[in-house]
Amino acid sequence: MMNSLTNLDNVLVINNLTKIYHSKDGETLAIQDLNLEVREGEFVAIVGPSGCGKSTLLSILCGLEKKSSGTITFSKKDVKLGYMLQDDTLFPWLNILDNSLLGLKVQKKISKERQERVKKLLDTYGLGEFIKKYPNNLSGGMRQRVG
Ligand SMILES: Nc1ncnc2c1ncn2[C@@H]1O[C@H](COP(=O)(O)OP(=O)(O)O)[C@@H](O)[C@H]1O
Ligand SMILES: [Mg+2]
Repeated sequence: MMNSLTNLDNVLVINNLTKIYHSKDGETLAIQDLNLEVREGEFVAIVGPSGCGKSTLLSILCGLEKKSSGTITFSKKDVKLGYMLQDDTLFPWLNILDNSLLGLKVQKKISKERQERVKKLLDTYGLGEFIKKYPNNLSGGMRQRVG
């Protein structure tokens, strides 16, 4: 009873997650039998040595990689996941505004309102003055905020 009650608070439950990468050089076991529960409002840090599978876990959660086995259950449908990469992925030939609008453009979801919202967000993050600049004119932290 206790268990089923506390489970309700979980936004994410991962059971026995395993990921094996297959390449022409062989197989790499990146994650083995990972179990994790994340509750509403909880901040979780995944810590471990290089190569222990942290990025792989995030890639699987975001749908960029497929898991090999195990289950991943989100408590809500249509959960929106954001994932900030270690290195920024801005295109050097696009200015800050165009980099920020790229996702909308690719998805053909661009509109006047959304462009205004993106500009407002850039303003909120202290980047309002830089929207016509290019990524190599910005500091690493600023580029991450654009990302
Ligand atoms: N695309 C890939 N193809 C094959 N092996 C990979 C791939 N990505 C990661 N790996 C391997 O999986 C393991 C976990 O990598 P990764 O998740 O990047 O670790 P971390 O982010 O914790 O440093 C490592 O052994 C790495 O070499
Ligand atoms: Mg990593």
